[in-house]
Amino acid sequence: MIQATAPGKVILVGEHAVVYGRPAIAAPVWQTVATATLVAGAPGSGCHILAPDVGLSLHLAEADNDEPLAVVARLALERLGFDRMPDWQIDLHSEIPIASGMGSGAALSTALVRAIMLGAGQEPKPAIVSDLVYESERFYHGTPSGIDNTVIAHGVPIWFVKGHPPQPFTPARPITLAIADSGIRSPTKETVGEVRRAWNADPPRFEQIFDEIGHTVLAARRALEDGDVPALGRILDTNQTLLERLAVSSPALDALIAAARQAGALGAKLSGGGRGGNIIALIDEHGGPGVCDALRAAGARRVIVTQIGYARA
Ligand code: MEV
Repeated sequence: MIQATAPGKVILVGEHAVVYGRPAIAAPVWQTVATATLVAGAPGSGCHILAPDVGLSLHLAEADNDEPLAVVARLALERLGFDRMPDWQIDLHSEIPIASGMGSGAALSTALVRAIMLGAGQEPKPAIVSDLVYESERFYHGTPSGIDNTVIAHGVPIWFVKGHPPQPFTPARPITLAIADSGIRSPTKETVGEVRRAWNADPPRFEQIFDEIGHTVLAARRALEDGDVPALGRILDTNQTLLERLAVSSPALDALIAAARQAGALGAKLSGGGRGGNIIALIDEHGGPGVCDALRAAGARRVIVTQIGYARA
């Protein structure tokens, strides 16, 4: 039996603008993971992929080409040089809420590709896994920047610019985030598509907002390198204002963000595609429990606390 996992993720700063070439910063969230378990099946049984969390049971030889997990599995097998289907059953499970900005689709695909590579006796190198998973991201995001597959496959915080190798980095001081789920599902493909339509209608206006987001990402990098956590909080707030101008926030997200700030968070913003899904709040060692309670009282379905910049146990 072979097991492989992949983390969820948050975008710290820069979502949406990253699709248009601006930088963004993302980090894995190991508190919530997708897992793939591969076992050998009877000779001639073929390759079955079961993902009950997303209601999926597929026989790889017969699966449609519009099924992202089938596409990514076939690509992985092709790359590994399989000329016939291996006799494997692969079970996929995920704790990561779907369509909520935490990279659930990319994490399922990453766990699947890792299990396939391990099953074939190959080391699942992050850059190769990321390239393969990018193909399935097209189904989830339409025009993905590649940030989700990259941060999830590498499993470390990254500075990311579309089309360039990611730069892993460690903040000078670890930071703590509360991640709160609004419970509203919002497929990234839809928000990315809406931003694209709005950009098509008025490119100069949207390019200007993307530039401003790009500046906040640079400022966030400086704050992280300087260990200036209060400055980072203010930058998250600025990024949220810019995301509101892109019309990807929502009353439910605004309410969670306001609750976090009132309870003492240093800054808060939506994370990922927006409209629904998760917000992140930057908290310090004293304010944490109060912010988490306030988020729950404001309707958060789940609150995860994660650290960025601590060595993973
Ligand atoms: C989704 O996690 C981040 C977006 O910028 C989409 C993408 O980069 O592909 C909204």
